[in-house]
Amino acid sequence: ASIPKFVTPLQKPPVVKPKPNPNYPTNSYFEITMKEAFHRFHRDFPLTKVWGYDGIYPGPTIEARKDKKIYVKYLNKLPKKHFLPIDRTLHGVGDSPEVRSVVHVHGANVFWESDGHPEAWYTQNYEYTGPKFKRKVHEYTNHQPAATLWYHDHTMAMTRLNVYAGLTGFYIIRDALEDRLNLPKGDYEYPLLLQDKSFNEDGSLFYPDRPPEDAPFPIPAPFIPTIVPFFNGDVMVVNGKAWPYLEVEPRKYRFRILNGANSSTYNIQLENGEPFYLIGTDGGFLTAPVKVTSIQLMPAERVDVIVDFSSFKGQKIKLINTLFDEDEPKRDIMEFRVTRPLKGKDTSEIPTKLAESMDLHEHHAHVIRKLPLSVGEDQYGRIMMMLDNKMYHDPCSEKPSLDSVEIWEFINATPIAHPMHIHLVQFKILDRRPFDLELYQNSNGEILEFIGDPEPPLDYERGWKDTVSAPSGMVTRVIMHWKEHTGNYIWHCHLLEHEDHDMMRPIRVIDDAH
Ligand code: C2O
Ligand code: CU
Repeated sequence: ASIPKFVTPLQKPPVVKPKPNPNYPTNSYFEITMKEAFHRFHRDFPLTKVWGYDGIYPGPTIEARKDKKIYVKYLNKLPKKHFLPIDRTLHGVGDSPEVRSVVHVHGANVFWESDGHPEAWYTQNYEYTGPKFKRKVHEYTNHQPAATLWYHDHTMAMTRLNVYAGLTGFYIIRDALEDRLNLPKGDYEYPLLLQDKSFNEDGSLFYPDRPPEDAPFPIPAPFIPTIVPFFNGDVMVVNGKAWPYLEVEPRKYRFRILNGANSSTYNIQLENGEPFYLIGTDGGFLTAPVKVTSIQLMPAERVDVIVDFSSFKGQKIKLINTLFDEDEPKRDIMEFRVTRPLKGKDTSEIPTKLAESMDLHEHHAHVIRKLPLSVGEDQYGRIMMMLDNKMYHDPCSEKPSLDSVEIWEFINATPIAHPMHIHLVQFKILDRRPFDLELYQNSNGEILEFIGDPEPPLDYERGWKDTVSAPSGMVTRVIMHWKEHTGNYIWHCHLLEHEDHDMMRPIRVIDDAH
C-alpha cells in the first residue's frame, strides 16, 4: 500500500536535563536509559517497537558547552532478547549475551575509556561487560569547537541492528563564537536526523535476515540469519517520522542535517533549487558560509545549513534526494510549508565570517599511511569489505604518536564508495585522485597508477570532517593532528553492515615521549 506523505508533523527531540548528583559539579551529570518503547512513525501507522535512549527515538539531544565537562551514564535497560535478526558468526558475538550496548559520541575529542569502544559493551545492569569496558560514567571534556555531533550504539558486530532499532541521538556542542554569530536559534533551529526504514504489514520494523534475492550479484547465504552487505529501507524517516512536514515562518532557519542511515547515501536538495547556506561540516563552523544547492551525505556525515524561506510565503518546498527519479517515493524526504505567520522581524543573520581559519599543512605530516579498501571473503564464503587487507582482530597497525600530524590515503579498490570514519580526530580532506583500478587489482595492489589529476574537496567538504566519502577507484587523502589523547580508538567504514562485518580496525595513539 502506498503511504500518504507529508501528513505527519516533524518533531524536535527534547534536550536531556541534568540530574542532581553530589559526586559531580552542578548541572554536569546526566543519565540516559536505553529501553524498549513503542513509537509512532506515521499518522496512519500502528505503534512500532523501537529501542530508544530514554525510550524515545531519536534519543534526547545532549547539549554541551565547549570546554565544560559533562558526565553521562547510559543505562542499559533493554530486554534480554533482540527483536532483529542476529548473526552469531560475526566477530565478537559468539556465545556472548544477545543484547549488548555501548554508546559512542561520533566526532568527539574524548578519552578512549569514554569513547564507546565496540569492545566496551555491557549488558543490562552491567551483568556482563566486554573486554574493553572501563567505566560506567562517560566523561566528556568537550574540548573542541561548537559542532553537531551525534551519539549512537557502537556494539561490536551489533551496531547495524542497535542503530536500526532506534539507538541514535544528537550531541550538540555550542561555544562563544556561535553565541556571537547571531544565527537563527531556538524555534528556528532544528536538528534533522535522516534515516530510511522498512516496515512489515503489522507496522513492525523490518530488517532482513538474508541478502536480497534481486541483488545485482549473487550473495551467498550459508545460513540464516546472515548479515547482509547493505540495507536500504523504503520509507524516508526524519526525526522518527515517515515523510514528515514542518510548518515554518517566512524567515531564516538553521538545520543541522545528519545522515544516520545504515547504508544509504542521500543527495539532498531543495526542490525549488533554492540554496543552502552551508555554515558548518562534521567538526564545526567553516571559515565563511558557502552557498550550495546540492549536498551529498554518506552515512554519519553532517552539514549545518541556513535556509531562507522569506520569499516563499505560502509555498511548500520539499527536501528531496536526487539519487531517485521523480516517480520514486524515496525521492521525497520531507516538506517545508511556509504557512506560519512571521512572529517578529527576522534579525538573525547569515554572517560573512565564521570560524578563524586553521589549516594543517602537508609538509608537517611525518607519517603517510596507505590504506587499501578491498573486497575479501570470510570463512563462510560471504563477501566482506576489508581495510588494509586485515580483519578487525589482526594486530593494530595504526599507531599514531601523540602530537603528530599524519596523512591517511584511502585507496578504494572496491566497486562502491565507503564513508570512512576515524575516531577521536577531525581531519581535512586534501584531495581525491583517480587510479587504474583494474591494474591495481590485477597486480594485487602492487601497481598504483594515477589516471587523472588530484581533485580538491567539494565546496561543502572543506571544513573539519570526521567522515569522508572514499569513492571507488580513487585515492582519498585526509590530514589530521593527533593532538590530545592516547589509547585505544578505531577507524572504520560507516556503512553499518560493513562495520559489523570486519570493515573496522583498531588505532592506538601512543605517547612516545614517555
Ligand atoms: Cu559513528 Cu565509530 O562511529
Ligand atoms: Cu564500507
